[in-house]
Amino acid sequence: MLRVEELSAFYDKSQILRGVNVRVGRGEVVAVLGPNGAGKTTLLKAICGLVRTEGSVIFLGKDISNLKPHERVKMGISICPEGRRLFPNMTVEDNLKLGALLEDYEKRLNYVYNLFPKLKERRNQLVKTMSGGEQQMVAIGRALMSKPKLVLLDEPSIGLAPIVVKKIADALKRIKEELSVSILLVEQNINLAFEVADRVYVLSKGEIVREGTVEEIKEDIERDYFEI
Ligand SMILES: Nc1ncnc2c1ncn2[C@@H]1O[C@H](COP(=O)(O)OP(=O)(O)OP(=O)(O)O)[C@@H](O)[C@H]1O
Ligand SMILES: [Mg+2]
Repeated sequence: MLRVEELSAFYDKSQILRGVNVRVGRGEVVAVLGPNGAGKTTLLKAICGLVRTEGSVIFLGKDISNLKPHERVKMGISICPEGRRLFPNMTVEDNLKLGALLEDYEKRLNYVYNLFPKLKERRNQLVKTMSGGEQQMVAIGRALMSKPKLVLLDEPSIGLAPIVVKKIADALKRIKEELSVSILLVEQNINLAFEVADRVYVLSKGEIVREGTVEEIKEDIERDYFEI
């Protein structure tokens, strides 16, 4: 589905990612764990075409490294960005509509409302009056509206209480089972990552320092091989 190969990313002259290799298979949930400033958001931006890169991003067998962001969206890449980036003065439903394609609009909306019944109840409420957890649900829902093949999630757990993080985890597991999408999740919250991911990469100072199954990475952490 997605192959990021020897990817470096730059803001002006400062290099943030160094030779990053990450793969996401069809229907797979992959987590990239790393502390503040590791380059997690930069990795997602690089996949979306929002920063200058060297190396390649291969999606569905095609090198998309030189495609514009909107062309990558058209191919089926959708992002739930850091800080959610919702329109606070618009309703829940209008925010969801903004992520949609015309095709299958009602069907997608119903799927999102079924996944997050709270959003259906609050469909006409302004997003700015929703709780942090509810806003995160809107952001995830919006990312699903375009019928993506690959969803990029930037720290969906940030600022949320454990019980709300659990709800997000359950929703991600349902998405994995019910939709044919792959998910690349960047997180600092190891609990969420371990609960939903099939495989994990650890990003530190712009480099992948470890990769493995959830069990392998858990063992490494228990043995104090590294900290996140
Ligand atoms: N627009 C930018 N211009 C210059 N440097 C940037 C820019 N955005 C990020 N950086 C730098 O790139 C590095 C990686 O940032 P990035 O946002 O990718 O980290 P992160 O892992 O997402 O961190 P966090 O967990 O805090 O969100 C940081 O040193 C940051 O200062
Ligand atoms: Mg970030």
